[in-house]
Amino acid sequence: MPHQYPPLTTEQKKELSTIAHKIVAPGKGILAADESTGSMAKRMSSIGVDNTEEYRRYYRQILFEGTEQVKQHIGGIIFFHETLYQKNDHGVTFVKLIKDKGIVPGIKVDLGVVPLAGTNGETTTQGLDGLNERCAQYKKDGADFAKWRCVLKITDTTPSRLAIMENANVLARYASICQQNCIVPIVEPEILPDGTHDLKRCQYITEKVLAAVYKALSDHHIYLEGTLLKPNMVTPGHACTHKYTSEEIAMATVTALRRTVPPAVPGVTFLSGGQSEEEASINLNAINKCPLHKPWALTFSYGRALQASALKAWSGKKDHTKAAEAEFVKRAQANGLAAEGKYVASGAAGAAAGQSLFVAGHAY
Ligand code: 13P
Repeated sequence: MPHQYPPLTTEQKKELSTIAHKIVAPGKGILAADESTGSMAKRMSSIGVDNTEEYRRYYRQILFEGTEQVKQHIGGIIFFHETLYQKNDHGVTFVKLIKDKGIVPGIKVDLGVVPLAGTNGETTTQGLDGLNERCAQYKKDGADFAKWRCVLKITDTTPSRLAIMENANVLARYASICQQNCIVPIVEPEILPDGTHDLKRCQYITEKVLAAVYKALSDHHIYLEGTLLKPNMVTPGHACTHKYTSEEIAMATVTALRRTVPPAVPGVTFLSGGQSEEEASINLNAINKCPLHKPWALTFSYGRALQASALKAWSGKKDHTKAAEAEFVKRAQANGLAAEGKYVASGAAGAAAGQSLFVAGHAY
């Protein structure tokens, strides 16, 4: 029976699903380059560079121009507001630069996390006020997809029911507003890797969180074919003493997804969550080789795991531009192959390839 009050027209649905499928076409994933100005301050200070608008522009130009060599592996790039309106050295907007390579521009639209009073340090994510108007403007300015990050944490007492329900609902409300503006929502309920918990506990919590998210998306009449999911991989806590193989991580991750994510969702684009560049590629590869049936594209939407070696190689020096670009290209190639289960770790690591990128209580 058709929906009594259809939220989207047939044309809107077609546009949303076309965009989502384009981003996660075989061997393609997402470059998350939407670090807020505050997060960029931390990245820049790690290489001793001032966090000025010009340095941010120049650094991102390295990444975006580097996509020329790996456009078969980058389906979308998530921008921060400032970046959506910046240009390269030749006066070409970044939006045009990447669109001309067949890459879909996206935009981070959440406004960061705020405390949920009465919980053990849990949060929700703000930014719904005015979101409809912002989405309408971003769509006009070239963005075809968006990202909204919610954060949950695993401790003996969390995530609480309140945090799970509130974050699921805010993600659904955001997704609804995006779809009304023909913007594909990336739904990101990130469960932080902080903690001593084991793989099983992460899997259990991931299943509970994702089940709540898909119930909320259904309640809000979200058209799943025009969405993408950006979850954490199921991994042991950062401080867990037991080590697991990538095959175990892959099995736990795919099992959790199969129990909770409808096959109508075109793609699952994992965040890297503090894994090293190599780990993130190896685990994504194992996920794609997992022998269970997987009805969605399983690919990357990495920030740190695509950028760490490039950032280090650049270190704010103009004459390191080519070296930095080469590092980015290497990671994009590795992850593009991993998204098809074809990555073979070469041992030819980049400047930061094996380095843990874990940040306690990571903000974005
Ligand atoms: P990481 O890959 O660095 O975890 O970040 C991806 C992202 O976009 C988090 O919202």
